[in-house]
Amino acid sequence: MGNNLLQGKRGIIFGALNDMSIAWKVAERAHEEGATFTLTNAPIAMRMGAINDLASKTGAEVIPADATSVEDLKNLFEKSQEILGGKIDFVLHSIGMSPNVRKKKHYTGLNYEWYKQTLDVSAMSLHKTLQVAYEMDALNEWGSVLALTYIAAQRIFPDYNDMADAKSLLESITRSFGYHYGTAKKVRVNTISQSPTVTTAGSGVSGFDKFISFSENMSPLGNAGAIDCANYCVAMFSDLTKYVTMQNLFHDGGFSSTGVTNAVMDRFE
Ligand SMILES: NC(=O)c1ccc[n+]([C@@H]2O[C@H](COP(=O)([O-])OP(=O)(O)OC[C@H]3O[C@@H](n4cnc5c(N)ncnc54)[C@H](O)[C@@H]3O)[C@@H](O)[C@H]2O)c1
Repeated sequence: MGNNLLQGKRGIIFGALNDMSIAWKVAERAHEEGATFTLTNAPIAMRMGAINDLASKTGAEVIPADATSVEDLKNLFEKSQEILGGKIDFVLHSIGMSPNVRKKKHYTGLNYEWYKQTLDVSAMSLHKTLQVAYEMDALNEWGSVLALTYIAAQRIFPDYNDMADAKSLLESITRSFGYHYGTAKKVRVNTISQSPTVTTAGSGVSGFDKFISFSENMSPLGNAGAIDCANYCVAMFSDLTKYVTMQNLFHDGGFSSTGVTNAVMDRFE
């Protein structure tokens, strides 16, 4: 049930691969809240076909775009404005991929071509998205751009590998572009730093199951789930959070402020 928090707003949602994807839940919640939007993903991800089910469920059109391609992004913003009938109010960047993680390269033995791909897909794609939108003047004033990140940008989580570097860059782009877009057009840019969540990208990190339980025990509220993340995204797209920009917002049940919990200490007895 929605509260019309996004009534009349137009959006673009990147990264819904299947019904476990965080972006999938965001699309469902944004639809419930009255938004209209287009869905996009890399052309290769379209082959799985699931995104079409989400599109019909939410009345959205699907526009394939490789988020590393400026041409694809231009086409995405052009078509989205045509289809939705005006400038865009919100964008969700929910994209992450590391060939080094996929192919189990250790952080001390990275393949540098793959490292470049990690940074391009997972971080520079946010800059490209923002720059394309900025140059096309495709976002409305008070528009809200959100990217999803993880606390490995601030602290070492060894198995997160080169994705940690990508997330640091993503958060830095958020601050830097947030400044420029804010002063020029009152557009806000933020990241949400989400608890570990069972999704296709998440499960690619080795030892993920153990890690989910560790994080659960280290978070006073427990891990934040994908649906709660979607709710937070809706709040950040709404006019209730108009003056929040250039922030990294932890959505993690308190994990980021916790040194240790009794639940974890009890295991050492
Ligand atoms: N799952 C977690 O534990 C967790 C925790 C914190 C942050 N995040 C972040 O949340 C975001 C969404 O991930 P998810 O967990 O929902 O997993 P997911 O695998 O469902 O989503 C990742 C998406 O990135 C897309 N993608 C990959 N390369 C692309 C490209 N070149 N162009 C366009 N899209 C491309 C994939 O097709 C997929 O839809 C990512 O940024 C991820 O790092 C995830």
